Amino acid sequence: MAKIKSLYICQECGYQSAKWLGRCPTCKQYNTMQEEVVEKTNSLKKPPAAKVYSLDSPEGSEEGRMSTGISELDRVLNGGIVEGSLALVGGDPGIGKSTLLLQICQNIGESGRKVLYVSGEESVRQIRIRATRLKVKSPNIFLLAETSMDIVEETIRELRPNLVIMDSIQTVYSESLPSAPGSVTQVRESASILMRLGKGLDISIIIVGHVTKDGALAGPRVLEHMVDTVLYFEGERRESYRIIRAVKNRFGGTNEIAVFEMGDMGLKEILNPSEYMLAGRPLGAPGSVVTCSMEGSRPLLAEVQALVSYTSFGNPRRVSTGIDFNRMVMLMAVLEKRAGLKLSQYDSYVNLAGGIRIAEPALDGAVIAAVASSFRNKPVDPQTIIFGEVGLTGEVRAVNSAEKRVLEAKKLGFTQCVLPQANLEGLRKPEGFRVLGAANINELLESVMGR
Ligand code: TYD
Ligand code: MG
Repeated sequence: MAKIKSLYICQECGYQSAKWLGRCPTCKQYNTMQEEVVEKTNSLKKPPAAKVYSLDSPEGSEEGRMSTGISELDRVLNGGIVEGSLALVGGDPGIGKSTLLLQICQNIGESGRKVLYVSGEESVRQIRIRATRLKVKSPNIFLLAETSMDIVEETIRELRPNLVIMDSIQTVYSESLPSAPGSVTQVRESASILMRLGKGLDISIIIVGHVTKDGALAGPRVLEHMVDTVLYFEGERRESYRIIRAVKNRFGGTNEIAVFEMGDMGLKEILNPSEYMLAGRPLGAPGSVVTCSMEGSRPLLAEVQALVSYTSFGNPRRVSTGIDFNRMVMLMAVLEKRAGLKLSQYDSYVNLAGGIRIAEPALDGAVIAAVASSFRNKPVDPQTIIFGEVGLTGEVRAVNSAEKRVLEAKKLGFTQCVLPQANLEGLRKPEGFRVLGAANINELLESVMGR
């Protein structure tokens, strides 16, 4: 006997409550609780016995992967899409999710595998127009413009594709639930139908999810725990570059990134992102410092820019783009206290050029140097890179993968690196490359701009 029951569910994080609440106790958001009807079955049927396998039995031991045809994306996925896996691709509307997935279809279709592209947003004609533009034309790609999960399920069972793309999960709905498409219950139900289908029939599934303005995966965020892989698009719609980051990956490392450029022919991978990030860099300008961050296993050079200018107001402005604001404010306080820079009378702007966002503390050293360089109006040698975490006493602390960072700098033609003193020991220096250690911010500043 099925019993109809309604619950209040937070549309941000999926928290459930029997009564309405103004504020979600889990994610602390206001006005996110919505009533949704959920069906509860209280069947007392005994479940059938499941088959169990020994860990070293041959069943399911071979791990097949499908190449996406885009080498950078394959690298992020640690070799390609794992057969029978469930992935979530999230990002702002219009950032390029549908474009990228259609491009992937071509390669997988060409390798002789069947792909089903389900779109709840565009008509078959619209997808065709886009596909023609992107030169996607494999006969193994099947299009379905549908929003009913029951029809999607039926189609998958009939067609038995190797890969299904669900674009997007917020547009489909299951008729067994009365709540609206895009609500947490619907999103979760549709995703679990896809998951059961995928795992049962060994079909890889990619779910597309739109995000809200504040950057959180609303709706799709509740799916993160059930999918194997979460890929997230970063970047601005008005800029041409896009970054895809593996936020979660059950089959490889996380935080790996791939950089793409959006052009007339869709997304094109950028094979040397460091070079791309530094393009157009002003050489010898005060306030410009190059650093190296580790994004997953890949070193990425980036330019930190700072502008420090005298404020005519009592309350100086602090603005950061691309780096954490609180981190920036902390570093400015450290500079003021430990290096004697009177920053409290100055407006300060810190920007990571290229529009990328980096959260790594290894950037601290470069932020310190850029702010000091702008403050003193003294340039930092443009062939020098700086990295190292800075602590509250002004100490420069060791970071991981120092050698990889140094090698990346050398590869791109830099000649000198200032890094944490503690990283110097045992570091193999490339030939013709100077490596200087700094134990605190004063040593760091002295080595790049003198007293
Ligand atoms: P789209 O893939 O539709 O975004 P999403 O599915 O994430 O909502 O991307 C649409 C944007 O990409 C749109 O603004 C146009 C642009 N675009 C190009 O610049 N070049 C192209 O070849 C294509 C297909 C799209
Ligand atoms: Mg789309």
